[in-house]
Amino acid sequence: MSLTPLFLPRLQVAFTISYHIIFPSFTIGLAAWLAVLEGLRLATGLPVYRRLFDFWLKIFAIAFGLGVVSGIVMAFEFGTNWSQLSAASGPIQGPLLAYESFTAFALEASFFGVLIFGRLRLLPVLYFVSVVMVALGTTFSAFWIMVNNSWMQAPTGYIV
Ligand code: HEM
Repeated sequence: MSLTPLFLPRLQVAFTISYHIIFPSFTIGLAAWLAVLEGLRLATGLPVYRRLFDFWLKIFAIAFGLGVVSGIVMAFEFGTNWSQLSAASGPIQGPLLAYESFTAFALEASFFGVLIFGRLRLLPVLYFVSVVMVALGTTFSAFWIMVNNSWMQAPTGYIV
C-alpha cells in the first residue's frame, strides 16, 4: 500500500465520515425522541417526562456538538481533497449543500439554542414547537445529504 496523493485524501475522508456518521445516526432519532417526550409532557403534565427530557437533552447536546465539528471538517474536505470534483460539479452539489445549510442547519442550530435557554422564557407549547423544529432540522439535514449522495451515485440531469 503506497501513500499516493489519491490514497491519502481518501483515507482522510474515510476517517472523518466514519466519525461524523456516528453522531447524526444518533441525533436524528434522539431529536425525534425528545419531541415525543416533550409532547407527552405537554399532554399529560407528568413530571417524569420532564426528567427524561432533561436527561436526554444533555446527551443530545454533546452528540450534536460532535456532529457539528466533524461535519464542518467534511465540508472543507470538498475543497481541499476533491477540488477538481468541486470545480466540475459545484453548480450541482453546491446548491444542494446550501439548501442543507439554510433549511436544516439553520433551523436545527437556532432552535437548539431555544431548547437550551428557552425553557423558562417560552410558553410550553412554543417550547414544544422548538423541539419539533430541531427534530425536523436533523431529518432535513439527512435528506439533503442523501439527495447529494444520490446524485453522485447516479449523476444525471446536467450538461457539461
Ligand atoms: C460529505 C458529507 C457530509 C458533509 C460535508 C456534512 C457536513 C456537515 C456539517 C458542516 C455539519 C454541521 C452543521 C451545523 O453547523 O449545524 C453537519 C452536521 C450534521 N450532519 Fe453532516 N455532513 C455530511 C454527511 C452527513 C450524513 C451522511 C448525514 C446523515 C445521513 C449527515 C447528517 C448530519 C446531521 C443530522 C447533522 C447535525 C449535527 C448532529 O445532529 O450531530 N451528514 N454535517
